[in-house]
Amino acid sequence: MTPPSTGEYAPSKLELFQTARRLGSLGLMMHIWRNHGDLARVRLGGNRSFFLVVHPAHVRHIAVTHRQNYEKGPSYDGVRRLMLGDGVLTAVGEDWRQQRRIMAPFFTPRGVEKYYPVFIADTARYIERLRSAPRSGQPVDMFDEMMLITATVILHSVFSTDSDETLLRFKDAAETLIAYVSNRDRKLIPLPEWVPTPENLRYQRMRRAVNEYIGGLIAKRRSLPEGQWPDDLLTKMMTTRDEESGATMADRILLDNGITLFFAGHETTARTLSFLWYALARNPEVEARLHAELDAVLGEAPPALEDLKKLPYTLQVVKEVLRLYPAAPMYVRDAVAEDTLDGVRIPAGSRMLLFPYATHRHEGFWEEPERFHPDRWLPEREAARDAHAYHPFAAGQRICLGNNFSLFETHLMTAMLARRFKMRLAPGYQLRLDASGTLGARDGMPMFIEPR
Ligand code: HEM
Repeated sequence: MTPPSTGEYAPSKLELFQTARRLGSLGLMMHIWRNHGDLARVRLGGNRSFFLVVHPAHVRHIAVTHRQNYEKGPSYDGVRRLMLGDGVLTAVGEDWRQQRRIMAPFFTPRGVEKYYPVFIADTARYIERLRSAPRSGQPVDMFDEMMLITATVILHSVFSTDSDETLLRFKDAAETLIAYVSNRDRKLIPLPEWVPTPENLRYQRMRRAVNEYIGGLIAKRRSLPEGQWPDDLLTKMMTTRDEESGATMADRILLDNGITLFFAGHETTARTLSFLWYALARNPEVEARLHAELDAVLGEAPPALEDLKKLPYTLQVVKEVLRLYPAAPMYVRDAVAEDTLDGVRIPAGSRMLLFPYATHRHEGFWEEPERFHPDRWLPEREAARDAHAYHPFAAGQRICLGNNFSLFETHLMTAMLARRFKMRLAPGYQLRLDASGTLGARDGMPMFIEPR
């Protein structure tokens, strides 16, 4: 294993500001990693600092071997208070363990196969829409396109929902909430949300709308005999008992998990699909191999569940997209006790910024890291690699709950869409990555969707 390097960086406020302006937040973090090592302590002035964590051994230390020292602590307070409450993404301790125990069986590789009909129906509808839409000659924004389809999938999987209209209303309200929370994180001095600015009032309205929507669905189900409840994730969360305590989820936690699953479950997958189309457009030889595999295995009908096993190259492409373009490029853990990491003292209260985007480009673990090369996911090569050199879904016990769901969804959608369409980048487009929350691009992703 390549030994980690460690360092310190104590920029002046002006230097930090100028570098961030020049390079963007993702570029700034990459700059710190390249110049200050795999475990860099970044001092921000006063007693504020954070550690940038890149090396796989350190990811393992924080997420697995010394996980008792790291928690989703104060760094998650904003999102906890403003949006996700005490749902499974933000809860801690026994509260989290109980929710995760209840939900884990719905998200195993076998458990997520249940959503196959939803994935197929929503993708087929989207394909129909593309076919019947008049061609405007203008590129579409691929992020918006993919958001629409993944939002539909997660809403159908969690809530079933009866009409497109209610579904779109929920989507808009929830996306306004998400945008409010991520914009707020970027403000120098955010006003408390009770100050009646237009933005804050809109936030309050949207939060009420989201809670009323999920609360209404729960109440409606409770008014009917259980046998008539739709077979979706909300019903599963309402009816499953924790096998250790015998408890079911309280209504408040059901509300929090409704918004949590929507929040965690669509933008990340939409970004992954968008970067997949980008990578294919930039790598025609990979695109040709993918098309050859799809054309050899699939007929005119949508893929059957068993067909996916016959599409290994398609899955390799998805994994390679998650390496070069991890939709969640950074995530945070708070040190709850003092620790020592590779000889470096980590004081209690330290903020650890884990940085998969950089780990996935670490030359000690990846050959030609900048090259888009799906064959690095051949099973024997994957098995020979340090497991924590790849953490697009985080790692350890708080690994993404939806990782099987999203891999299955992306595998299937890629197969269905690439069998029918070829995505072309707008002429002259240059990708400038940006990391405000999920991985994105500063100028969007203008593409043409053309029939094959
Ligand atoms: C490509 C798609 C996805 C990526 C890259 C991704 C990535 C991640 C990452 C990095 C985390 C850790 C976040 C943190 O510690 O702050 C996480 C947590 C989580 N994700 Fe995902 N995710 C994806 C799709 C999904 C989907 C489709 C769902 C739901 C259906 C989902 C549900 C969750 C939940 C509930 C958690 C919290 C788990 C816990 O703390 O126990 N994710 N995800």
